[in-house]
Amino acid sequence: MTGSNRIALVTGANKGIGLEIARQLAQAGTLVIIGARDPGRADGALKNLTSQGLKVQSVLIDLNKPSSILAAAETIRVEHGKLDILVNNAGIVDAEDGPPTSSSPDAVRRILDTNFVGTLAVTQAMLPLLRQSQAARIVNLSSSLGSLTLNGDPASPYYAARLIGYNASKAALNMLTVQLAEELKETAIVVNSVSPGYVKTDLTGHSGFMTAEEGAKLPVRYALLGEGPFPASSSGRTAKHRGKKFGHHSRLRTTATGLGTVAGPPT
Ligand SMILES: NC(=O)c1ccc[n+]([C@@H]2O[C@H](COP(=O)([O-])OP(=O)(O)OC[C@H]3O[C@@H](n4cnc5c(N)ncnc54)[C@H](OP(=O)(O)O)[C@@H]3O)[C@@H](O)[C@H]2O)c1
Repeated sequence: MTGSNRIALVTGANKGIGLEIARQLAQAGTLVIIGARDPGRADGALKNLTSQGLKVQSVLIDLNKPSSILAAAETIRVEHGKLDILVNNAGIVDAEDGPPTSSSPDAVRRILDTNFVGTLAVTQAMLPLLRQSQAARIVNLSSSLGSLTLNGDPASPYYAARLIGYNASKAALNMLTVQLAEELKETAIVVNSVSPGYVKTDLTGHSGFMTAEEGAKLPVRYALLGEGPFPASSSGRTAKHRGKKFGHHSRLRTTATGLGTVAGPPT
């Protein structure tokens, strides 16, 4: 697959890390479909990227609206007949989330509906298109806050970040990655979770150590596994790159189909 005929969908690509993932994938020659739930915001992102001469389109997709997910898949099928890269980036936090003793169950439901169930629904809808690719990549935007190990380690910088809804949604997303990778292991579809690091976006109230541009680098690397400077291990399932430095605050540990994690404080 070369850049010129590679097609990617990035959900939640109208701002933050998703917009930068879209920009970097387009800069690598990929035709990027910006997924956004609001037409005005989709248009803004489209203008932003086309003004730089990048090859992008947009599609309306709301993770909480199954009909919009199916319609987006149908639009991509009709226009392109396949998808090479799916970046499941869209995600939320919720002001009413918190520790297990006090978090609002409704907030937890909202977060899980978007970050986990919505992502699962998008993935299922796009699978027939990904199966048409010679080398498809699914990248799930996860978080170190989804790590059961780090949540239980008093020495971890993530230990104090008790957001039962958000953290559980990312743990569940990691479960999706592992099970889906296993289910698809005989196909040309590689699935990874990537934690981008602690990034200054609306989601973090612009706290964080990294710019959105920096936070997009690891997800883009996984989206382009096997392309140009980003080698994929041959069959993909057991190769490990332990302790490899990648950008700021980033320590990559992965099997080629499995989890990529990045060290750095919440989220
Ligand atoms: N920032 C960090 O430090 C950090 C760390 C680890 C993981 N992450 C993950 O990285 C991803 C991107 O986060 P970010 O920091 O870039 O956040 P952000 O700036 O708040 O962007 C989130 C994006 O998701 C979209 N979105 C939310 N709910 C949606 C829905 N129901 N349907 C479709 N799109 C929806 C938003 O659209 P609207 O503009 O319409 O709201 C927006 O485009 C998230 O999955 C997040 O959990 C972020």
